[in-house]
Amino acid sequence: MTLSSPSKSSYEFGNGLVLRWSTAADAPRIANLVGKAFREKETDPLHQGLYDTVIRLMSGSHPAMGPNDYALVEDTSKEGKPVVACSCYLKETWSYDGIKIPVGRPEIVASDPEYRNQGLVRRVFELLHERSAANQDLLQAITGIPNFYRQFGYEYALDLGGKCLVSAHAVPELKEGESEPYSLREATEDDLPLIESCYSRRKPQSLVWCEVPAAFWRYHINAEKEQSGRRGYFRIRIIADAAGKGQGFLMVPGNRWGSELPVLLLDVQPGVPLSVLMPSLLRALKTWGEQLPSGIRQHPLKEITFHLGGQHPVYDALGKDLISKQEQPYAWYIRVPDLPAFLKKITPVLEQRLIGTAMENYSGELKLNFYRGCIRLVFKEGHLANIEKFRLKPFENETDGAFPYGAFLKLLFGYRGLDELRRMFPDVLANSKGEALLKILFPTRYSFPFGS
Ligand SMILES: CC(C)(COP(=O)(O)OP(=O)(O)OC[C@H]1O[C@@H](n2cnc3c(N)ncnc32)[C@H](O)[C@@H]1OP(=O)(O)O)[C@@H](O)C(=O)NCCC(=O)NCCS
Repeated sequence: MTLSSPSKSSYEFGNGLVLRWSTAADAPRIANLVGKAFREKETDPLHQGLYDTVIRLMSGSHPAMGPNDYALVEDTSKEGKPVVACSCYLKETWSYDGIKIPVGRPEIVASDPEYRNQGLVRRVFELLHERSAANQDLLQAITGIPNFYRQFGYEYALDLGGKCLVSAHAVPELKEGESEPYSLREATEDDLPLIESCYSRRKPQSLVWCEVPAAFWRYHINAEKEQSGRRGYFRIRIIADAAGKGQGFLMVPGNRWGSELPVLLLDVQPGVPLSVLMPSLLRALKTWGEQLPSGIRQHPLKEITFHLGGQHPVYDALGKDLISKQEQPYAWYIRVPDLPAFLKKITPVLEQRLIGTAMENYSGELKLNFYRGCIRLVFKEGHLANIEKFRLKPFENETDGAFPYGAFLKLLFGYRGLDELRRMFPDVLANSKGEALLKILFPTRYSFPFGS
């Protein structure tokens, strides 16, 4: 399945290097580059998990992208025309306080060690951003290595991950004479309503949310049942009570991450007592985790890790006695290519935020200076009547707020508040009207966008 029409653009660098979108025939060469680039050491074999992930992404049956959705550079001057730089382009739908936002997700970015620092990945991103703009994505998001993506217009603006660790040897034994109150079983398509309702439970608390389609769960449920031996899928399990009734679900990768069994999603139905569930679930995870493949180095299971964001009721249920370490979230890189378009899309949220505040029914402007251009938000009796770009005229200095573009993204996505941003960046400014409006329109909010 191709979710986006392939771009016509391609580019010949003149030295045999060609930038273009992929076709199905490129899958093994892209997978080969990715498998090579993501090795821990040069002497390691190809990273099989990522090799298989690329083959899956390009198979035509993946819900987030198809065979024409890898932006790549190939070297046509070499035998076999190797792919030497690439990034995939995943299509997702996120929501911002309930408003659906089309998102383009560059991921699994790689370049051949012999072709690095020549700007090839920069060109790959230009191609990808062109496609994303044509598809009217309102934002791009990437989970990436530190610092690198800032140069392509991305800024850290949402929590990513965050985890707590439980040592395998700390998992409590079942007391004699007692039986397990909960167990794990493989999910089937019949479990989709349960999975979807449990997954959505945290949506109201999360400003930004990934609207995972049913096709995602279905894909991974069925991928695990295949006999292909191909990795690159998630294992989804139903948490069943003693009567066998599904009460929640969890998701782990196909393989352990070395000595660690990472739980990437875990949510339960209302009313399930987490303090009763967790000891039982830890025992089930330990037994299961010991049997799961652990990658090339065959590590024994040392810990179960819960990657459930900066906060989650599961962390509280495990408590200090079981958690050996808690790690704070890293961050998503976010790019908003057209800020007025994004602000227009979330107009109902912005109008709602004014209600019940000192600025209720506000009429007037909010002029924001992004140093390389300004945006004016025009309110009429509490409604956002217009959002437009403008430039300051010579000797015109007065705006209500000023931000380096990346700092504003942190405010927009509730990642950092105005006061904190002013402490961090001397070029974040606000007059008293600007301060009042910005604090109401862009409050600090928690988000847990799961990147499917
Ligand atoms: C990260 C990686 C994709 C960069 O590839 P590359 O071909 O060197 O990228 P480019 O040459 O297009 O880089 C663009 C610019 O970033 C610079 N750059 C390269 N690596 C960088 C890094 N880790 N941090 C910051 N800048 C970096 C380049 O020098 C270049 O700068 P310039 O345009 O001023 O000359 C490559 O090193 C790689 O495949 N690493 C292993 C896999 C990996 O970590 N992928 C990213 C997963 S999110």
